[in-house]
Amino acid sequence: MTSKKRDFLKFTDLTLDEHLGLFRRAAVLKKARRERRCVNTMDGRTLTMIFEKASTRTRLSFEAAMLQLGGSCIDLSAGNSQMSRGEPLPDTARVTGRYCDVVMMRTFADARIEEFAAYCEVPVINGLTDGGHPVQILTDLFTIEEKLGSVKGKTLAFIGDTGSNMGRSFTRAAPIFGYQLKLASPKGYHPADDVVGPAKGFVSLLADPKEAAKGADVVITDVWTSMGQEAESKQRLADLGGYQVNPELMKLAQQHALFLHCLPAHREEEVTASVIDGPQSVVWDEAENRLHVQKALLEYLVLENERRQE
Ligand code: CP
Ligand code: NVA
Repeated sequence: MTSKKRDFLKFTDLTLDEHLGLFRRAAVLKKARRERRCVNTMDGRTLTMIFEKASTRTRLSFEAAMLQLGGSCIDLSAGNSQMSRGEPLPDTARVTGRYCDVVMMRTFADARIEEFAAYCEVPVINGLTDGGHPVQILTDLFTIEEKLGSVKGKTLAFIGDTGSNMGRSFTRAAPIFGYQLKLASPKGYHPADDVVGPAKGFVSLLADPKEAAKGADVVITDVWTSMGQEAESKQRLADLGGYQVNPELMKLAQQHALFLHCLPAHREEEVTASVIDGPQSVVWDEAENRLHVQKALLEYLVLENERRQE
């Protein structure tokens, strides 16, 4: 069974057709919630969430998604489990898979979630690692399509720490969805070659934030210091100081341009309050959409896994 189940660890784990299918289903689920219609597709199923880093949105949206679909949810904080006392990860993964139908994990190294998934018999979803944040990018692309239509052929400008997990997942998704991604960062802050290489032709690595923002349909940023990088924060603040998304930068983008940020945000660092709280910002819809998109993803992975076992 372990070899057959599907995980969502990286954006490339699903095809374009599968991603678009999730978007269609997410729109249906969003409408159902607006109309207060119950959907019970996860009846009797359980999601286990493992957090080795802090979270607000990911915790709330996954738990709410599972409960609203009629399922249940277990939050296994790594610090309160035997994981913090040295139980081998493969053993934790094996037993977790025996109790539940799907796992969402937030951790540090990608190798850790990959090892967990290899030993866990049920689908594992990446809820953020150092190397990517695929459920957030899936939601961001859904949000862009909701507001501007198909993202294919559009220009997305990502300004700041583009080598962050957010920048890396946007890069991996570019050739799948066919958008142009302009990544503006100081030297040393772009994603590495192993991430950029497969996206050749869809991604430009730039130093000038103005060049990236010019004519963009969407302007995106992320924090300058991601979780786990706190010791570098002073250096990062100095290096990234010229990469703030502010009204002057937004003026260079298209008039209809959207501003996206996965949150949490640091106002007056990577983005000014006037932009994130301004009319082009869609960050609250973006945060809400985590709920609808993740519902679609949970249904897809869990029900497909059950069908495979029949
Ligand atoms: N955007 C996001 O994943 O937020 P949290 O860290 O609060 O989960
Ligand atoms: N890049 C950020 C994203 C937070 C959701 C971090 O990893 O801290």
